[in-house]
Amino acid sequence: MAFDLVFFGGTGDLVWRKLMPALFQAFRHDSLPEGGRIIGVGRDDLTDDQYRQQIQSRFEQVEGDKRPKPEEFARFASLLCYVRVDLSEPAAYAALAQRLAERETDSVVMYLSTAPSLFTTVCEQLAAHGMNTPKTRIVLEKPLGHDLASNRAINHAVGLVFKEQQIFRIDHYLGKPAVQNLFAMRFGNALFEPLWRREHIANIQITMAEELGVEKRGGFYETTGALRDMVQNHALQLLCAIAMEPPINAHADAIRDEKLKVLRALKRWTPETLNQHVIRGQYNAGNVFGQAVPGYRSEAGVSPSSSTETFVALRTEIANWRWAGVPFYIRTGKRMAAREAYIEINFRPTPHDIFQTPSGQVNKLVIHLQPKDGLELHLFAQGPSKRGEGSGTTTLSPVHLDLDFDKRFGSQRVGAYERLLLDVLDGRLNLFVRSDEQEEAWRWVEPILQHWKNDPIGPRPYTAGTWGPSASTAMIARDGFCWSEEI
Ligand code: BG6
Repeated sequence: MAFDLVFFGGTGDLVWRKLMPALFQAFRHDSLPEGGRIIGVGRDDLTDDQYRQQIQSRFEQVEGDKRPKPEEFARFASLLCYVRVDLSEPAAYAALAQRLAERETDSVVMYLSTAPSLFTTVCEQLAAHGMNTPKTRIVLEKPLGHDLASNRAINHAVGLVFKEQQIFRIDHYLGKPAVQNLFAMRFGNALFEPLWRREHIANIQITMAEELGVEKRGGFYETTGALRDMVQNHALQLLCAIAMEPPINAHADAIRDEKLKVLRALKRWTPETLNQHVIRGQYNAGNVFGQAVPGYRSEAGVSPSSSTETFVALRTEIANWRWAGVPFYIRTGKRMAAREAYIEINFRPTPHDIFQTPSGQVNKLVIHLQPKDGLELHLFAQGPSKRGEGSGTTTLSPVHLDLDFDKRFGSQRVGAYERLLLDVLDGRLNLFVRSDEQEEAWRWVEPILQHWKNDPIGPRPYTAGTWGPSASTAMIARDGFCWSEEI
């Protein structure tokens, strides 16, 4: 299975931070198909050896056992090479075509880790230089556009050159082991399915909190914001994985058909729900883990009067038989109190309480995505009896079953980018997003963007190191629920 894997943006941040380390882990796990070549493409004038050295010096900054040993790196480095291409210069693509023509391969993967404004040009030039053969696959990194129209334009342009089966739209959340385990839990076990519906579930919460700010990406983030950066893609994909019907089989289109139905069933926005069910926030200076941090407007590349949101909390519903009336809450933000991503399924209370269950608590299933990767089932049990409890009501104690996948499966676990890169090399589309899903997600977020454009109030401030503006707590409290911060 010889392959050529070409990274456009080969000297960029994503390649250094995520893609090369993921490929190295795959190499170390012996999972990379034989006969591979990894080709970095960039504007810098580098030889193959200089490119290898750049990667080696990045790897030297890696801490712990993920850092390659010198002999391991030497073997990995033999797969690496570099081609200089100025992507805005049509004639420059000939150098890449020539390099690819040097040898026969089973597949060629073009990974576009560049600004999305270049996607159309790159695809056109690949076609113009004969690099869109049936064995070519193309990988597109988010953001794929900044609204519905720009997303459709990109999908249209790429679709003129590649068939849908050749297009791998990355949402790295789908590659997280916890998300695959969510599919396994739901569709590989019969246990939860009868409970997985409006009759038994009171509400569902998706939290994706980061303690980091915008780091060096202020310029990018200013024009993006949390809604486009996290909700349109990652949060909605998680929501689909929770809410979708069981697919008829495990093939990519069967899964994607079901996810699409969820997106189509998301309740449409009204002026009232836009006002009451969507909260945007922006962090002020504060303390994160005891460290003083600046406010968003003081970050490099950010305007001092910025109205970009660094936090979003929203409430939605899915208008179908399974979920009608069940609130789904989504919350995500930068500079929050912790780095934690989890989904909480809150079940309904018992219809008639003969014990005394702790007030405000219910059975819940928590799916931890990070930093922990596992499942927790919260139940009530009778703890050791105390004197005087013989005759009156029995008070139950909360207990939980805790399944920690990292402990269970240990070092055999495969990270998100490693999983997704291996799937691209294998031609497996299951964990990639189809164009119609992506468009539907944009269609749903667009009224929020429009609403914000016309809303003079702007994002609500919150102190860095907290769980976001108080309006987010108030929103969920109106339904009689609360966010669980105490997990
Ligand atoms: C990316 C966003 O898609 O996801 C970043 O652009 C965000 O802003 C990141 O920090 C979060 O990913 P993870 O895997 O660290 O939760």
